[in-house]
Amino acid sequence: MLSLGNAFAAEDVSDWLEGIRNFLRELQDPAALIEVRCEPKIDGLSCALRYEAGALVQAATRGNGEVGEEVTANVRTIQNVPRRLQGRDWPAVLEVRGEVFMTDADFLALNAQQAAGGAKLFANPRNAAAGSLRQLNPAVTAARPLRFVAHGWGEASAPFARTQSEALERIHRWGFAPNDPARVVAVAGADPAGLCAYYEQIQQQRSGLGFSIDGIVLKVERLDWQGRLGFVSRSPRWAVAWKFPPESAVTVVEEIRCQVGRTGKITPVAHLKPITVGGVLVRRATLHNADEIARKEIRVGDTVIIQRAGDVIPQVVEVLMAQRPADSAPYRFPLRCPACGSRLVREAGQADLFCTGGLVCPAQVVERLKHFVSRDAFDIEGLGAKHIEAFYRRGLIATPADIFTLEARDGQAAAPLREWEGWGETSARNLFEAIRRARRIPLDRFIYALGIHQVGQATARLLARHYLSLSRWRGSLAAAQAERAPERAELLAINGIGAGMAHDLLEFMAEPHNQGVLDALTGPRGEAPPLVAVADFERPAAASPIAGKTVVFTGRLENLSRSEAKAQAEALGANVAGAVSAKTDYVVAGPGAGAKGRKAGALGVPVLTEAQWLELIGRGS
Ligand code: IVH
Repeated sequence: MLSLGNAFAAEDVSDWLEGIRNFLRELQDPAALIEVRCEPKIDGLSCALRYEAGALVQAATRGNGEVGEEVTANVRTIQNVPRRLQGRDWPAVLEVRGEVFMTDADFLALNAQQAAGGAKLFANPRNAAAGSLRQLNPAVTAARPLRFVAHGWGEASAPFARTQSEALERIHRWGFAPNDPARVVAVAGADPAGLCAYYEQIQQQRSGLGFSIDGIVLKVERLDWQGRLGFVSRSPRWAVAWKFPPESAVTVVEEIRCQVGRTGKITPVAHLKPITVGGVLVRRATLHNADEIARKEIRVGDTVIIQRAGDVIPQVVEVLMAQRPADSAPYRFPLRCPACGSRLVREAGQADLFCTGGLVCPAQVVERLKHFVSRDAFDIEGLGAKHIEAFYRRGLIATPADIFTLEARDGQAAAPLREWEGWGETSARNLFEAIRRARRIPLDRFIYALGIHQVGQATARLLARHYLSLSRWRGSLAAAQAERAPERAELLAINGIGAGMAHDLLEFMAEPHNQGVLDALTGPRGEAPPLVAVADFERPAAASPIAGKTVVFTGRLENLSRSEAKAQAEALGANVAGAVSAKTDYVVAGPGAGAKGRKAGALGVPVLTEAQWLELIGRGS
């Protein structure tokens, strides 16, 4: 199932018509008319319904266009979807395509019912329709007032019409609700006037339709032309969606609150005086980040224009300055996380702030724990995302250290794991064993498991390779908190560690909560038997002549790019540094080597030509 190209203005529609005329030779005469079918664009979910010998056999959502979700049992509960096609003149195989949606009235009633039952409210009719269609239990879908409108077809074992309208008329007679009000407009040249008239008519009728639409769809009537026009990438040339501008409204910002996302990203949100925009009650609008608040000069108490485009979270478009209260003040962004009180960090040149308390912050902890046990981190077999969630919900795991005390606490605060639903003697024993096995972990994976902002696997390896042991890493970063400490310079000199990363790392280490997590896991520098043993970094490829050596490349290399040379050296276990020091083992100097070559000479560090280097690593010719 494909998607549609978008038009936002009459000029875009002219361009579309122009494109069709250029594509089909016989339409190069502007006097030749193009009949265009105009329909409302329903804001629902695309669905394909397959009929064989007139019987509904399969239904699927659009998914990614190629693979969708099978929803046959659920679609069978939609009242206006025929289980058998009416009449007799349908093709033996026919795939009807259309939109599953919910009317505004049904949506409001469903939400009222959800509220009464203490269940989650849906944000808009589209989400309600999607949530209802993708239920595991068809009985739930059956109780939801979904509807279906046909707007096209896919596979058909025999052609059944010559125009779009004729085809839809027949599909209608086979038992499907039509997509009204539709109209066919004959277009001369690339003049969109007739199409504009339809667009405006629908825009006027929009609020009274009783269901959400987000524009109109224009389709070339003649199916033979559709066939010849075909597709560009994933959209047909023969159709276009002309979108309505987003709906807007005026309201007041009552409060600005910061939310913490699962990754620790801080998003300021405007809490608004509730207002209906396009049939949906809006109470909040995203303010994105501190820069956006500053740029739009948004303050608490301001009267603002908000806008909502389809499914998108409402936005604040503009402040009505004339209505600003005299006593308002600019918004002051918090310095600490509203969920856990940890410090917030901001990457250089980036607008977003992040919480540094990932391992203790309630907004992030489940996500962080999942990361902690994931394959490239602690790799605890049998402790998947679902289990983490269940253990967290039952209050058994709230910090990384809790994972390693789970077995000792088993059966104390809750029933023993082997008695839980879905668990048994063997699976519980296997999990505890996997946790025990995971207690020994190499330094690089340990660092990665901590989920420090900007510290992915590659960076964790760089750090481990440089610091070698946990105690050196922690000690050095503690010392590096002082701006002028040599450890700070050392950190910044590690090739591949940028200033932004170094900053986030230092902020993470400065946070007492995080130190607490490290202490709980590894013991505060040697006291008490630690829960986990972090093994020193082991250099790979110990057989290589440059394993463990520190190398600096300078000047122009002839045979290799700098990045390839670096990757090659690292693969052989060398450290590639940016600056020459007493710790440097080799300097590889190409033509144009300047200060670094001289410094190596002064320090007595061997300086190799590129050819000598290649010889050394066994890649010489
Ligand atoms: S025709 C090649 N007609 O809009 C796709 N689509 O933005 C041809 N939609 O995925 C689709 N109302 O689910 C068509 N009257 C209408 C429509 C319509 C809503 C949806 C459709 C499509 C999406 C594209």
